[in-house]
Amino acid sequence: MPKNRHKLRPSPTGDKAYALPLHKGEKVRILFVADIIGKPGREIMRNILLKIMTEENIQFVIANCENAAGGFGLTPNISREVFSEGVDVITMGNHVWARKEISEIIEEENILRPANFPPEVPGKGWTIVQADNGIKVGVINLMGRVYMSTLECPFRATDGIIEEISKQTKIIVVDMHAEITSEKVAMGWYLDGKVSAVIGTHTHVPTADERILPQGTAYITDVGMTGPRDSVIGVKKEIILKRYLTQMPIRFEVAKDDLIFAGAVMEIDEKTGKAESIKRIAKPFEGKRE
Ligand SMILES: [Fe+2]
Repeated sequence: MPKNRHKLRPSPTGDKAYALPLHKGEKVRILFVADIIGKPGREIMRNILLKIMTEENIQFVIANCENAAGGFGLTPNISREVFSEGVDVITMGNHVWARKEISEIIEEENILRPANFPPEVPGKGWTIVQADNGIKVGVINLMGRVYMSTLECPFRATDGIIEEISKQTKIIVVDMHAEITSEKVAMGWYLDGKVSAVIGTHTHVPTADERILPQGTAYITDVGMTGPRDSVIGVKKEIILKRYLTQMPIRFEVAKDDLIFAGAVMEIDEKTGKAESIKRIAKPFEGKRE
């Protein structure tokens, strides 16, 4: 994936694609797309992402894709598909190694796995990407440790990374992929004033606590999911119910219906890196499905 990539958008006057310029003094508007769930999640991305980017005047897009391939993991083809639709950086989580093909793309500049894996693990946990409009955005991917794998400390992991990124840009967005709310809230407080935004992912259930913390960091405990709502967090509800009722192991299958696009839009001051607003997004599929 080239470093300076043209972002294709519908122009307001026709269908000619163009890259949105950043005007002097303009705030940077970043969209974080909540965990994309399998094929249905990708279907609603195709259906509505460009429209949201245009309506919200989005200049940079980050998407959590750890469930994008059949509900678990990511493949080279799917990463290309997601990038071609306008995503600048892909973040992952506990399912990062679910597909063996991830090894072909994990070293790519715009694909992240949690930064608090041990240092010898392939891939990287942070990046700085410059969009064509000149915006440089630092992105950090972290994973919580409570009810998840016991990785290295996600809090301490950020210290050196933020110092490195700050040499190039003040705009830093963190994907905190974690199970429990308190670990994510704690991360928000730990990073308040040090990064532009801390966005929680993994539970697939959005929380209504988006706000700007006192030192200027945008925060939300979980942005939810981009995928089928007629489900239990993306999986066919009949399967999950059977599993709860019988306690037997049953193969998971991604659900199909009632698609929702979820995420958050943040407005960030380029000079200070501080967030000025954060807004939750939840949009249903538009029109008829293929
Ligand atoms: Fe996850």
